[in-house]
Amino acid sequence: MQKREVKFGIIGCGLMGREFASAVARWCHLLDQDVIPRIVGVCDANTTMLSWFQENIPTIQIATQDYHDLLASPDIDAIYCAVPHNLHERLYIDIIQAGKHLLGEKPFGIDQAANRQIMQAVQAHPELLVRCSSEMPFFPAAQKIYEFIREQRFGTIIEAQAGFLHSSDLDPNKPINWKRRIATNGEYGCMGDLGMHVLHIPLRSGWFPANVRALLSNIVTERPGPDGNMVACETWDNAILACEVQTREQHFPMLLETKRIAPGETNTWYIRILGTKFSAEFSTKYPKTLRTMAYSGGSQHWQVEDLGSVSAYPSITGGIFEFGFSDSILQMWATFCDELVHRDAMRQPFHCVTPEETAQSHLLFTAALQSQREQQVVMLPPLPQTKL
Ligand SMILES: NC(=O)c1ccc[n+]([C@@H]2O[C@H](COP(=O)([O-])OP(=O)(O)OC[C@H]3O[C@@H](n4cnc5c(N)ncnc54)[C@H](O)[C@@H]3O)[C@@H](O)[C@H]2O)c1
Repeated sequence: MQKREVKFGIIGCGLMGREFASAVARWCHLLDQDVIPRIVGVCDANTTMLSWFQENIPTIQIATQDYHDLLASPDIDAIYCAVPHNLHERLYIDIIQAGKHLLGEKPFGIDQAANRQIMQAVQAHPELLVRCSSEMPFFPAAQKIYEFIREQRFGTIIEAQAGFLHSSDLDPNKPINWKRRIATNGEYGCMGDLGMHVLHIPLRSGWFPANVRALLSNIVTERPGPDGNMVACETWDNAILACEVQTREQHFPMLLETKRIAPGETNTWYIRILGTKFSAEFSTKYPKTLRTMAYSGGSQHWQVEDLGSVSAYPSITGGIFEFGFSDSILQMWATFCDELVHRDAMRQPFHCVTPEETAQSHLLFTAALQSQREQQVVMLPPLPQTKL
């Protein structure tokens, strides 16, 4: 099959930059793709981060400490940008103004003011595809649950829950890093870091909350600094957001949690929707397992189905084999590339997080900070109802 090549530059060659490079390296895993990404440029302020890419990615032509070198290159069509949150505003705007498509990382601006500036640049360049990374909804069971939402299978929704749980911060001796400082991670703390992942399916389903009562905790308030001395660890470790969702058809509570200190949890992402006719839940803790319960009177029993590897795009992996984190990254990248080339005619309907959805997440997190400060429920502005 003739494949259209999309030439990428990566800005920020840390944890997530490498995941993208690895996904590109195994693009042949995907079947029937008519688009193929090529990484031709990499940029990191810290040159030691570049060597892994230069050793492993033979297509790289530019390796630089200055991201302007990638933006000036006519050989680069699109940028993946994975840098600390305080840099999102400047870099995302520069990328868009340079005429490059962008897959950026969450939270898409360190705060609401930064997100608004990015949104202005996005709106000024409708010819570019701009999306935000969020890979967990590409787990097969999460895709199924989104299908159930579209099919309106739940009857009256009793409650929706979604969360993302980490645990390594339970260790008080874990050194401070940029994600634990307000100046670089932002005042949202764990919400800015984990919240977009939790909101992707709810927002795509039109479940923007009408209000929020936030319970935010800063559990470990000091951590070892670079010289071993204790320094302030200012960011919120854990957040529980109790929301109400009001759509044309439904009115239900939605509980969202983003936690960096959830004992024993290693990147556990989950969604659970309980309804009068149908309920469904999935957690990455059991990565192939979908739990559902249909109810039309009589006995109540949950069913467990092992789904295997089938996600948004077909791949060479046998249908019965397990799906994992790196598969979700590959599927997300297939989605971005498909939409970049085919736009509205992309091959499956679940596109990556839109800039508008990031703006909704900022409305919610900003209201959550206010709720915590004032210890009360904060109302959110109504959004136009979207068609699923
Ligand atoms: N999608 C996900 O699952 C996921 C997971 C983790 C992090 N993230 C997001 O990815 C982004 C980066 O996080 P990370 O964990 O990869 O961080 P990281 O610290 O591992 O990597 C960030 C890199 O950016 C580089 N950098 C800093 N300033 C720069 C500049 N001016 N120009 C070029 N490079 C610069 C750093 O040297 C570092 O190598 C954040 O927005 C974070 O929220 C997403």
